[in-house]
Amino acid sequence: MTYQIKISKDINIQDINEILDLIGWGAYLEDQWPIIKDKSTFMVEVLQDNKTIGFARVVDDTRMCMIYDVCVHPRFQKKGIGTLLMQEVLKYINDYNFATISLFYDMNNKGLENFYRKFGFELIPNAMRLKK
Ligand SMILES: CC(C)(COP(=O)(O)OP(=O)(O)OC[C@H]1O[C@@H](n2cnc3c(N)ncnc32)[C@H](O)[C@@H]1OP(=O)(O)O)[C@@H](O)C(=O)NCCC(=O)NCCS
Repeated sequence: MTYQIKISKDINIQDINEILDLIGWGAYLEDQWPIIKDKSTFMVEVLQDNKTIGFARVVDDTRMCMIYDVCVHPRFQKKGIGTLLMQEVLKYINDYNFATISLFYDMNNKGLENFYRKFGFELIPNAMRLKK
């Protein structure tokens, strides 16, 4: 299977929204996308036959770095596409000397934890977030 890796902010919003819906996170609204594109510092898509089947993005300010929206179309999961996305994210990240590089994930999903551990991530006990 040949996949195309695209590093650009000229993203395929419709396909990415479809993936976000299918995995249950929910699509971003049309008027959110220009802001997301503007504030994100790195975006990567994996495509097959011009259709986006995987996406990830980074938001950073040269010191702090967060990885968001690592997602693969359910039909294409467990075929190495998440790994391709993370490899591209890490190539971007390795060009900087960030103080912290973080991401959120579903802690009930041990598989996900192992997925990120493969790339050198570890659990930390010192994070909090504002209650909604
Ligand atoms: C998590 C996700 C991005 C991984 O992408 P993927 O293309 O399925 O991952 P890969 O095929 O590259 O898998 C790499 C390894 O991680 C494992 N893995 C990945 N996701 C897993 C999961 N949810 N449960 C168990 N194992 C998982 C694979 O089995 C594989 O292991 P191996 O190398 O030993 O065979 C994808 O499953 C996804 O989009 N999930 C829904 C959204 C999500 O939860 N994103 C992460 C939020 S932080």
